[in-house]
Amino acid sequence: MKTKLTLIAMAALLLGSCCSRPETPTYLNPNAPLEERVEDALARMTIEEKIDIIHAQSKFSSPGVQRLGIPELWCTDGPHGIRPDVLWDEWEQAGCTNDSCVAFPALTALAASWNRDASALYGKSIGEEARYREKDVLLGPGVNIYRSPLNGRNFEYMGEDPYLAAQMVVPYVREVQKNGVATCVKHYALNNQEAHRHTTEPVLDDRTLYEIYLPAFKAAVQEGGSWSIMGAYNLYEGEHACHNNRLLNEILKGEWGFDGVVISDWGGTHNTEEAIRNGLDLEFGSWTDGLANGSSNAYDNYYLADPYLRLIREGKVGTEELDDKARRVLRLIFRTSMNTSKPFGSLLSEAHIEAARKIGEEGIVLLKNDNQTLPISLENKPRIAVIGENAIKMMTVGGGSSSLKVAKEVSPLDGLKAAVGDKAEVIYARGYVGDVTGEYNGVVAAQDLNDNRSEKELIAEAVALAKECDWVVMFGGLNKASHQDCEDSDRFGLELPYAQNRLIEALAEANPKFVYVNISGNAVAMPWVEKVPAIVQGWFLGSEAGNSLANILLGNANPSGKLPFTFPVRLEDCGAHAVGEYGGTGKVHYNEGILVGYRWHDTKAIAPLFAFGHGLSYTTFDYSDARLSSSTIKEGGKVKVSVTVTNSGKVDGQEIVQLYVGDCESSLLRPAKELKGFEKVALKAGESKKVEIELPYEALCFFDDAAHAWRAEKGDFKIYVGSASDDIRATLDLRLK
Ligand code: BGC
Repeated sequence: MKTKLTLIAMAALLLGSCCSRPETPTYLNPNAPLEERVEDALARMTIEEKIDIIHAQSKFSSPGVQRLGIPELWCTDGPHGIRPDVLWDEWEQAGCTNDSCVAFPALTALAASWNRDASALYGKSIGEEARYREKDVLLGPGVNIYRSPLNGRNFEYMGEDPYLAAQMVVPYVREVQKNGVATCVKHYALNNQEAHRHTTEPVLDDRTLYEIYLPAFKAAVQEGGSWSIMGAYNLYEGEHACHNNRLLNEILKGEWGFDGVVISDWGGTHNTEEAIRNGLDLEFGSWTDGLANGSSNAYDNYYLADPYLRLIREGKVGTEELDDKARRVLRLIFRTSMNTSKPFGSLLSEAHIEAARKIGEEGIVLLKNDNQTLPISLENKPRIAVIGENAIKMMTVGGGSSSLKVAKEVSPLDGLKAAVGDKAEVIYARGYVGDVTGEYNGVVAAQDLNDNRSEKELIAEAVALAKECDWVVMFGGLNKASHQDCEDSDRFGLELPYAQNRLIEALAEANPKFVYVNISGNAVAMPWVEKVPAIVQGWFLGSEAGNSLANILLGNANPSGKLPFTFPVRLEDCGAHAVGEYGGTGKVHYNEGILVGYRWHDTKAIAPLFAFGHGLSYTTFDYSDARLSSSTIKEGGKVKVSVTVTNSGKVDGQEIVQLYVGDCESSLLRPAKELKGFEKVALKAGESKKVEIELPYEALCFFDDAAHAWRAEKGDFKIYVGSASDDIRATLDLRLK
């Protein structure tokens, strides 16, 4: 009996030992500290495996480590919605039927909301869409500074002011990443023109770099905690931005302590040794048609693939940089594709559609509203003439890599028709013919916009209609075709294309109740501005464009957006064109320096067409009792600015209180004033609220190139509290001791 028991016990023991589960390796243990997991995984990898994970394997993915069960990374554009899937190695459509998305408003519109909560909602919603589509890295948001209205890609960015862009990018990044999806903030840095984007080399001083062009990236990395960043196409100090010692090693990873991944822009890598040394971690898109570029797998020929391996094998470079790159990529994988606690996300949810509409409404800017032309009243069943190609043209297709395949896009015409129902008659006339194409990488807008009538005929028809209607609303502006608001090309000038100026003048003459809605991501010239009573900046608003616009035009929502960039009267009124260089190849001198946008206009006393921060409402706001908590401030200290804002009109609304700082005496040039704080506040009709904004010492500082440090000079400062950069309601005195 005893023997029998012993035998059973021994058998059990044997069975136990051979079938006991091996201990989980640290890298697979989600509860182990991130850095321990990274080191554990790295220690198990061969050099070849490390090389594998630092370059692409397809148009939008990079390999994992199959042997170790470490998953791949899948990227997607970005930044306005989740791009439809393309073929493994081509830009053309994969032909999926599950990849339609919600298009959110373009980032200029988001910036125009001046609403940090709207940015958080945007990030949450697009992050959930990315997660549902099982994407790990969202290629966006973009925060290149709006230097010139000619940049075809301004619509993907957050305007001309570094403080506004920095404030708006942070919530977006944080909320996306809560989904286990990394943001890839782009295009770092100085990608301020599309023309010759692979060969331009901005030349600027450090002060301009640090004060104007870097703050939004820094905030995205340090405050937002972005897990990746995209190198730009252009050069800087003789090296491409994707492998640039100064930008990547010294500033991003050195000064800012970035622990994430530097991803190249698609085709932005040009040199293996620079890529090894100068901070690039993950190479993408080096050949548009990757497979055709090599005999077996052209991805092996990427700069950070076989050429790198060869240098290591020949002993020409060590493996220290390789380990650093692989570590960063592993960190990204653990944070995203291998994150076991990430949520599942959702696609095309009611909440996302609602978010797109709401953000759109918050971003629309009422530029002018003489005689209270807007909102349109539906009393007495009016006849509303809707004119213009942009009333019907799908705007989510085109524009470059941000092009989307949407489940639905509500056009301005359809939005208005749906909103008025049977309370008004809406009649459409084309007015002008602009871009009749509507295709991007195989996504087709499926609209036949062809119209062979002459300009004269089109204008005559529109004018005749305008004369017999109670209201006329024209939707014009730019579109997503080349040389409009589109990647890879710049605009030819500030003027509206397609003879729209003639049409606008004719409509303004035909009917005094004329509203011009400008659809664009850029400023346009408005030589007829005095003749048109109501002007609205309508942006590219995505899936819900028509609904957002209709709500504003009809007064169902009160406009509350403010311009995130200046509208100059003429192109020459913009610093980059007055004294700077723009649009060329090779060295492009940013001679205007720190005087970008309103900083130029205000300092040089050049009146804009519409100022930075400008935006009207259907109500009015009074400012009173503006105060500083102290009239002096010390280095490292802070003061509080408070002001009471009253909604003095008859409808509820939102006001954006803006805080600008000007240095009264300084040993070097400082802009007349600079935005250093803002708050968007909702006020019911008749309601008053006290708004408080903190002003830290840093808000008084400039970047001292010589000392390579931020500092301020003692003396007097003016604190301007206003409703726009050209509508200051109170000026306060502050002394730096
Ligand atoms: C663009 C990037 C984009 C990438 C992938 C590039 O041409 O500059 O913004 O994310 O393509 O589509």
